[in-house]
Amino acid sequence: MNEEGRNGPMSDRMNAVEIKAPGGPEALRLGQRPLPRPGQGQIAIRLHYAGVNRPDALQRAGKYNPPPGASDLPGLEGAGEVAAVGPGVTRWSVGDRVCALLPGGGYAEQVVCNADHALPVPEGLDMKQAACLPETFFTVWSNVFMRGGLQAGERFLVHGGSSGIGTTAIQLAHTRGARVFTTAGSAEKCAACRELGAEVALNYREEDFVEVLREAGGAHLILDMVGGSYLPRNVKALADDGRLVQIAFLTGPKVELNFAEVMMRRLTITGSTLRPQSDLAKARIARALEREVWPLLAAGRIAPVMDSEFPLAEAAKAHERMESSAHIGKIVLRIAG
Ligand SMILES: NC(=O)c1ccc[n+]([C@@H]2O[C@H](COP(=O)([O-])OP(=O)(O)OC[C@H]3O[C@@H](n4cnc5c(N)ncnc54)[C@H](OP(=O)(O)O)[C@@H]3O)[C@@H](O)[C@H]2O)c1
Repeated sequence: MNEEGRNGPMSDRMNAVEIKAPGGPEALRLGQRPLPRPGQGQIAIRLHYAGVNRPDALQRAGKYNPPPGASDLPGLEGAGEVAAVGPGVTRWSVGDRVCALLPGGGYAEQVVCNADHALPVPEGLDMKQAACLPETFFTVWSNVFMRGGLQAGERFLVHGGSSGIGTTAIQLAHTRGARVFTTAGSAEKCAACRELGAEVALNYREEDFVEVLREAGGAHLILDMVGGSYLPRNVKALADDGRLVQIAFLTGPKVELNFAEVMMRRLTITGSTLRPQSDLAKARIARALEREVWPLLAAGRIAPVMDSEFPLAEAAKAHERMESSAHIGKIVLRIAG
């Protein structure tokens, strides 16, 4: 959508993709909303691009409701320029190029977010790449390094290696000196994971990750989004004293597990979900990313893996692509620019 396609600089309306009723991708429709204005400690961002994430599809299907006070529009990340700053904001000025973790509302021309959840567009990256960073980088940093405590030299297994989360986790863990093992659903996806730094990429349709990890001595840390039958298998794939961090349950959250093994081998099972965490917790993750990860992006040592781009009005097609699981890396919506 170019400048002419917008409602005009003085308009108080904007284009936004709404969820008409819980359902499939066809539930996403372009509509009009009032332009959101920043309150205390907030900024408004005129979005150029928004990232598409699996949780958006869960929200669209009625399985992941926005937390209280958050926009009902989908969209958890985006990049653009600051359009307005609310009272109490000192870090940002109108016109700054930022990307931000959003509580929702990213499938729109303008969004409001906590000023401490924004980061500068990293040097050398464009708006499209920057829009893809927040959701996966906040998730991976907080779960793999803060919660999971991954150290250089450790064996790290991430499932769904070709996903937005997986491609980020492989690169960050590899760059920080861990030995990366991953699973993905095709030979092509496995090859892409190896290019990103995975030492071993297994096609889970043909190979048993438990066997491969046990032969290697077991995983010190596993990041899992599959759940279901993977839970007992992950426990078996862990080394003694290993840690399992659960970030989603693509195949279901309920399973029978023999906890004797957890106890006998001193395993840790934990997990988290980003969206309901406090503003302060998210701000802490943002500052850690800026300090530890933004220099790696600026130096070109890691980069978001881009799959495809769709105009905002075709958000339904973006969801269809994501739910086909044919993609490798990130899908984005073009809003302006
Ligand atoms: N806890 C949090 O805070 C948090 C935050 C963001 C995302 N997440 C979760 O993290 C996961 C990845 O998110 P994303 O945005 O990166 O999504 P994504 O790119 O769509 O990745 C999902 C990947 O999982 C694999 N997959 C899908 N269904 C599967 C199944 N039934 N069994 C095994 N693998 C399956 C697919 O690859 P294959 O072809 O290899 O199967 C697909 O590429 C999602 O479940 C999302 O909800 C959690």
